[in-house]
Amino acid sequence: MDTRPPINQEMSERIFIGVAWPYANGPLHLGHIAGAYLPADIFARYHRVKGNEVLMVSGSDEHGTPITITAEQEGKTPEEIADKYHQQFLDSWQKLGISFDLFTHTNTANHAEVSREIFSKLLDNGYIYQATVSQPFCPNCERFLPDRYIEGTCPYCHTPRTRGDQCDECGKPLNAADLIDPHCRHCNTTPQFKDSEHFFLKLTAFEDKLINWVKKQTHWRADVLNFTQHYLEEGLKDRAITRDIEWGIPLPLDGFDGKCLYVWFEAVIGYLSASKEWAKSNEHNDHWRSFWEGDTKSYYFIGKDNIVFHSIIWPAMLMGYGDLNLPYDIPANEFLTIEGKRLSTSRNWAVWLPDYLSRYDPDPLRYLLSINMPESGDTDFSWREFIRRNNNELVATYGNLVNRVLTFVYRRFDGCVPEHGELDSSSQILLDNAKSTLTKVDDLLYHCHFKEAMRTTMSLAQEVNRYLDEKSPWKIIKEDQQAAATSLYVALCLISYLKTILYPFLPFSSQKIHGYLGFSGKIEDCGWQAVLPAPGQKLLPPEPLFSKLDEKLADEESSHLGK
Ligand code: MF3
Ligand code: ZN
Repeated sequence: MDTRPPINQEMSERIFIGVAWPYANGPLHLGHIAGAYLPADIFARYHRVKGNEVLMVSGSDEHGTPITITAEQEGKTPEEIADKYHQQFLDSWQKLGISFDLFTHTNTANHAEVSREIFSKLLDNGYIYQATVSQPFCPNCERFLPDRYIEGTCPYCHTPRTRGDQCDECGKPLNAADLIDPHCRHCNTTPQFKDSEHFFLKLTAFEDKLINWVKKQTHWRADVLNFTQHYLEEGLKDRAITRDIEWGIPLPLDGFDGKCLYVWFEAVIGYLSASKEWAKSNEHNDHWRSFWEGDTKSYYFIGKDNIVFHSIIWPAMLMGYGDLNLPYDIPANEFLTIEGKRLSTSRNWAVWLPDYLSRYDPDPLRYLLSINMPESGDTDFSWREFIRRNNNELVATYGNLVNRVLTFVYRRFDGCVPEHGELDSSSQILLDNAKSTLTKVDDLLYHCHFKEAMRTTMSLAQEVNRYLDEKSPWKIIKEDQQAAATSLYVALCLISYLKTILYPFLPFSSQKIHGYLGFSGKIEDCGWQAVLPAPGQKLLPPEPLFSKLDEKLADEESSHLGK
């Protein structure tokens, strides 16, 4: 049940949106987009249109063994790998319209400074302590084996070849030493154990506080809440937050050469450091505070494999640091499967975003992943379904509607919005429906129900089609110009509603429609309200918004999978 307070329509709100930091070790794929980036962007655009102040940040996660392993495989430096994918991510955001206020990366001086400051404060506050631990060490490679350098069987779900940092199967974060039958990923040698000095985050100190805090988060998605509560019930363990690795942020202490902050410890700090970087670059050095203090709500958009880090570890760090807002909501999505199978980057069972964007437009993908978003369970992406929904829904229900009305009006009414006669009851009902859809979608988006919001909007588009079938202005225009003008005027109003409601989902086509209807400026500045075209308003020559895709593409595209 959604126990959240209703929308406060009176006051403008301040919304912080943190989005998972993708590892800069490979291209983005549709799982990333459906899991976190698209819902975050829809939410950000929605709040901006509503006139709320939004700060949406993320960045490339550039440290740790995910990057060094790729670098070794490709014979490059970690920095080269990170730079390459960071640039690629920026390019993808721009093409897909993911509207970050800042997308930075973890290899910046600012991020290192903020991370070390948090480490030091937690140390001073007694929430970080030093201990000698026995760490896996490969005698053959002569090095410690942190995280992804070691593989073995997951101690929880018994999946073989699990990495030392996290089990992809059961989602539990791991300590490399807990793996059953561990071996060096490089040379397969069974590691020895050697003493090493490390620092631990005292999660146990936050157990009661976390349990009480989580209990109150009844507005979280059921799966997120259950997973978190279950994890807490099993009892927390202190976690090592440093590693024997050269690539990362060195500790702010002398005498720990060859050790860095654990990549997960500093990556979550990125939310705060990015906010500070954003404020600095806008010459409002302290403005980040307004997104981290007071009644600003913070939302974290992540995939379900990242829940623990955002619902337990990051909140514990914030509690220990003091005075900054804890997450308000963590609307984690489930997984997107590809053609019925679990997505796997190593087996190339994935649809890569740069690849998609080199051949197709952004809005059809945004449409498909919205109407099929893995919000409360896994959903599947298949090329066949992508093409079917593009052709039968996006093009047939929405694109053709807009195009048919705009071209007809443009040609027959001198490129202007027609003068209308009196509105009959079916016209009135349609306009009322549009108004109530605007209100309903407002509520749905406010509560992060993206899929339902898209479905609701598409059924309004269907109603407009039915209305036009009934009125058939294209036929009656010869006998009754006035009646045709009236129904076309109503259709133009509905198109204007649809472009506003769909703007968070389909920003590119909504902006185009905004222009075709004769409005100037950015659609985002018009607010979450019906701005109706005025009779006589000059239209711009319309062009089709979307195009049909050949069904043959499905076989061709899916033949690349797994190869
Ligand atoms: N890089 C991590 C991943 O891809 C996610 C980090 S999210 C963070 O799984 F912001 F918390 F770091
Ligand atoms: Zn080895």
